[in-house]
Amino acid sequence: MVVPAAGSGRRLGGGAKALVRLAGRAMLAHAVEAMEANQCTVAVVVVSHPDALDATAKLLADEGLAKVTALVAGGPTRQASVAAGLRALPPEPGYVVVHDAARPLVAPGAVDRMLELLLEAGLAGVVPGVPVIDTIRRVDEAQRSTGIVDREQLRSMQTPQLFVREVLERAYRLALRDGVEATDEAALVELAGHPVQVVPGDPENLKVTTPLDLAIAETLLARRRGAGGGFP
Ligand code: C5P
Repeated sequence: MVVPAAGSGRRLGGGAKALVRLAGRAMLAHAVEAMEANQCTVAVVVVSHPDALDATAKLLADEGLAKVTALVAGGPTRQASVAAGLRALPPEPGYVVVHDAARPLVAPGAVDRMLELLLEAGLAGVVPGVPVIDTIRRVDEAQRSTGIVDREQLRSMQTPQLFVREVLERAYRLALRDGVEATDEAALVELAGHPVQVVPGDPENLKVTTPLDLAIAETLLARRRGAGGGFP
């Protein structure tokens, strides 16, 4: 399992985004704990901003996150960071998950359910997506509308994304060879010629990017705590 956490968090006021606190705890700790809660998780590689390596190492030790096997420095893009994480995985597991530290509200059992489906259906990859609720329109450079996009056919992609390991590793090798850059693993795996199965995502598994997202995430966590839902 690879957790890219090397984003700079400019829109959250600077500093390492993964270390921004949410309900009293770093976002990264929420995300890693939820990943560790899956029975299938045997190893977690955390990819941190090069400037935040020491602080991240201390955090992981303080939080006692037992399945973290490596902490490595990320690169200038998410894709470069994930590639660094993949290189640091132990040789054993045949499946690999990538989960953004910026999604701290992921449900703890999400990956176990996705792996069950992948194995049952013999899939190369399983990725969560949620329906698009806004009306989506194309515009040209002058912001003139050039047409509407049928949102019924669209999904907003989330993480965790799960793949057969050799499929994802090959997709990353091909992307490096061809100079392709994408914002998620599904795009690279598809470009490498493998079908990817989209399963219903979780609307609460939001990506924390702006101060507004942070406020919403705080509210959702407080509600879960109030409900005694057993979430971190
Ligand atoms: O930038 P974006 O919001 O797409 O980031 C998604 C995830 O990728 C975040 O968890 C962020 O920490 C990570 N990331 C990274 N290395 C980068 C940029 C983003 O690990 N250079």
